[in-house]
Amino acid sequence: MFDNGLVTGPAPFDPAALRPRLPSPLQEVSDDRFARHGVRLLLKRDDLIHPDLIGNKWRKLVPNLEAAAGRPVLTFGGAYSNHLRATAAAGRLLGLPTVGVVRGDELAGRPLNPSLARCAADGMRLHFVDRSTYRRKTHPDTRAAVLRAADAEDAYVVPEGGSNAVAVRGCRALGEELRDHADVVALACGTGGTLAGLAAGLGPGRRALGIPVLKGGFLAAATRALQTEAFGGPRGDWQLDERFHFGGYARTTPALDAFAADFEERHGLPVERLYVAKLLYGLVALADEGAFPRGTRLAAVVTGAPFVS
Ligand SMILES: Cc1ncc(COP(=O)(O)O)c(C=O)c1O
Repeated sequence: MFDNGLVTGPAPFDPAALRPRLPSPLQEVSDDRFARHGVRLLLKRDDLIHPDLIGNKWRKLVPNLEAAAGRPVLTFGGAYSNHLRATAAAGRLLGLPTVGVVRGDELAGRPLNPSLARCAADGMRLHFVDRSTYRRKTHPDTRAAVLRAADAEDAYVVPEGGSNAVAVRGCRALGEELRDHADVVALACGTGGTLAGLAAGLGPGRRALGIPVLKGGFLAAATRALQTEAFGGPRGDWQLDERFHFGGYARTTPALDAFAADFEERHGLPVERLYVAKLLYGLVALADEGAFPRGTRLAAVVTGAPFVS
């Protein structure tokens, strides 16, 4: 665009115009399962940051949207991806074209499920790919072919789950908001991007605890790699407890469902089931094992909210 002889790009996007609630609220809740071990439970309500860019989606996506500088944004996800929905909503709010590459070409001919229907209603162009292509999507040749097939070669690409160096640096603010208020900060992990940034933002003497919701034991290496990409090396004191994935992503048990419903009842918190329920369940079990010294201020990050179609 030429303006008074100067070459200018698209108007810069101002995240403050979306009026996020930042820092997100920190709420202490009274819960006997923690209190009897002398542990104070605090809920870090990242689910209240923004009604459409919920929780870690705000922290990871907004810096990427700034980096996209007005280019169409293309990203990847499964048929029920929170990340695809958030990207589509961001596109609607900011007037940015978005493309969602969806795992499973068998879905192409069928009516959209409520999650993908929401993406489409928000203006996201959906491009379905077969599972083997989807698995190879980070390979440069496959990625180039997918972008070509989706007619999006000029797009700014955000990886599946939204975790890249820009996103990880965006999540540092979560740690900075908590460093004066909590001794241990716990959160559920998928790719490890939020944990990688959070740990970097917490101060000395503070500890981050990740509860992976996927099975496989790959997350420590993935989190280290993300910290190296974002900061040049390891940052902060963090660890994982791999015991609370309940069989893997989106897997659940009657006991977990009952736990989540009971937590909602006790505390009036809508409990997102894929990540947040597993985190809270894990924390109750850990408190019972005596994992937190008496007097610990334990913050649980509410990284999402249930999807209501
Ligand atoms: C609600 C919720 N919590 C936690 C996570 C995990 O975040 P990360 O992939 O950064 O580990 C996700 C996925 O992005 C999520 O949707």
